[in-house]
Amino acid sequence: MMIVSPSLLGLPVAEFPSMSQKLFEAGASWIHLDVMDGVFVPRLTFGSEALENLPKDMVKDVHLMVEHPLPFAASFLKKGADYITFHVEAVSEEEGHALIAYLHEHSCKAGISLRPMTPLSALAPFLNEVDLVLVMSVEPGKGGQPFLPQSPQRIQELAEYKKEHHASYLIEVDGGINNETGRIAKDAGAEVLVCGSYLVGKEDYAERLKGLLND
Ligand code: DX5
Ligand code: ZN
Repeated sequence: MMIVSPSLLGLPVAEFPSMSQKLFEAGASWIHLDVMDGVFVPRLTFGSEALENLPKDMVKDVHLMVEHPLPFAASFLKKGADYITFHVEAVSEEEGHALIAYLHEHSCKAGISLRPMTPLSALAPFLNEVDLVLVMSVEPGKGGQPFLPQSPQRIQELAEYKKEHHASYLIEVDGGINNETGRIAKDAGAEVLVCGSYLVGKEDYAERLKGLLND
């Protein structure tokens, strides 16, 4: 069974608790929170208050699309984030290692992500430390964009590296996921699917979610 991490990006923050609860009841064990700072990406979203009143047993999967991720990480950590993922483009190598260590000291899982045009080799210094690698299959910044065709190859390379090096990261894919691209990502080796506009706000979200979970 796949892990599906629904993204609430299109919704007002006030609706996060109720929508998360519905998704949880429909079978989603994770919830994905897209944090944007207006600098790393043009949009500005929410702060860590967005984690308040989410279902206790859902895994809170925070995706920081921000420059200077450390203060954001500290704030989301305090509100109970389970996974905090930052972008490799936003840190120096030294800052990246320090942030991963900081998250681990606070019993939080550390994830690393990269834009579709960033070479996978940028992740190399971190792959044996992180708990999750988030492959962006669209340019970060907004929902509803089409899944980029180079993504399966990137997922596959990360899956091969993981196997060869006995690494322990989960491979998560984010952007343009629907029933078809979800299957493609899964076949390439993805273990967690982030899914926004295909799911959230759709009347038949529960059936769509079941399709993604069981496909
Ligand atoms: C994009 C965000 C994604 C996005 C996914 O910047 O990181 O999580 O909300 O939305 P869809 O599934 O619509 O591409
Ligand atoms: Zn995201």
